[in-house]
Amino acid sequence: MGPLKESQRSSASLVVCNWKAYLGIEESVTLARNALALARSHATALWIAPSMLSLGSVAQAVRGSMVAVGAQNCFWDGKGAFTGECTADELIELGCTFAIVGHSERRNLFGETSASAAKRAHALLRSGLGVICCVGESAHERAQGHTLETILEQLAPLFPAPLARPGQMIIAYEPVWSVGSGQTPTASQIHEVHELIKTHAAQHVENLRVLYGGSVTAANAAELARAPSVAGFLVGGASTKLDSLKALLDTLG
Ligand code: PGA
Repeated sequence: MGPLKESQRSSASLVVCNWKAYLGIEESVTLARNALALARSHATALWIAPSMLSLGSVAQAVRGSMVAVGAQNCFWDGKGAFTGECTADELIELGCTFAIVGHSERRNLFGETSASAAKRAHALLRSGLGVICCVGESAHERAQGHTLETILEQLAPLFPAPLARPGQMIIAYEPVWSVGSGQTPTASQIHEVHELIKTHAAQHVENLRVLYGGSVTAANAAELARAPSVAGFLVGGASTKLDSLKALLDTLG
């Protein structure tokens, strides 16, 4: 695991917007249209994960463009008696190309486990969709010095993964204590975890893309992206308003 060098430049070229349940359907469509205009004038790739009920309208609004649309969750089985769930086939029908799994809010508020997140990821991969799987330690786990073992535990059920193509799976490192808090790790701390993820995944996947997520804004993106392993960002709050999203993309180029 090499140390972080001052001279290393950012390779962050993807911003994934996690709109959580922040926006209504109309608001999501309006922001998606504006985000598409931004994407046309920036080099950074832009993916949007709106709320489940906004997915169809947002996918329609950006259809055929360079902006990818995905879900924030997805069930692991197909059609059947699964009240309240949605299937990968439905996401494909709506025009989605990816889904997020294992987000810390799913884990902490809705009982998601690493095993159930992996089941979702595998179903999505088998259906041909891309997957962004989130991992990250709590403040307590970091304070106890258990960050790396927590990440390895979360990754374990994901591999081996039924990948149909290179790049189909992305890992997002999102420390739980950083999500929505305004606090961020240092570039060196991100680098350490990213190296661990890449080393672990290397037995199974080539050239895995690893994102960083947690309180990313225009003000800290350049510093966070000093970790050369940061392929891009998973962004919550700052992606839900046009001015902060524009400022972020302006920073990244
Ligand atoms: P945040 O959320 O940018 O608001 O911290 C990130 C995320 O939850 O993916």
